[in-house]
Amino acid sequence: MTDTLILLFHPDFSRSKANAALVAAAARVPGANVVDIAARYPSGQLDMFEDGGVEARRLIDARRIVLQFPIQWYAAPAILRAWQDAVLTRMFYVKAEEGAAMAGKSVMLAVTAGNTADAYTPGGRNLFAIETLLAPFDAMANRCGFVMHRPHVVYEADKLTAGQLADIADGYVRHLEGFIAADGKVELTEA
Ligand SMILES: Cc1cc2nc3c(=O)[nH]c(=O)nc-3n(C[C@H](O)[C@H](O)[C@H](O)COP(=O)(O)O)c2cc1C
Repeated sequence: MTDTLILLFHPDFSRSKANAALVAAAARVPGANVVDIAARYPSGQLDMFEDGGVEARRLIDARRIVLQFPIQWYAAPAILRAWQDAVLTRMFYVKAEEGAAMAGKSVMLAVTAGNTADAYTPGGRNLFAIETLLAPFDAMANRCGFVMHRPHVVYEADKLTAGQLADIADGYVRHLEGFIAADGKVELTEA
């Protein structure tokens, strides 16, 4: 069983700086295992039966799951939707016993965004908080019976200096450690 499965959805990982730093940082977390989904399916398509079977088994075998991706056009990259269409549709609409095996599993998002945190506010350039843009994942978790942990968000991801890349790497390790420690408990924000 994989303790912490990190599924990476990056359409151009060879040119990544921010997600590459996060992936390297994950290697410092015991039991974390990164799978690059875009590299496994370079056509951008996943077949529900063959690929879906492999990916469903990967999810069932994981204790907890991180979905990591860069924000593109205020949403996740298309490869993540292709994965949902094949793998989650298979597990939750075609082979319900696979979906049932996922009940109560902890899931976390780890996202990078080019824009600033200020831009992602109601009065800011992007109008919406990033958590609002990510709301479809809360709906996904509700439908699938996942326990959603608070997301890890890196802003200004295209402008990070070497020192800042090291800082976001440390921050990701801490966030993953908190995710592992929470282990299925909903994390309440302190008042
Ligand atoms: C096609 C495309 C669309 C993007 N759309 C957004 C966006 O909507 N909001 C944003 O903050 N950044 C956006 N970005 C910036 C990416 O989020 C940023 O380049 C990425 O998080 C950096 O991570 P990386 O170094 O791992 O590639 C976009 C980038 C690309 C290539």
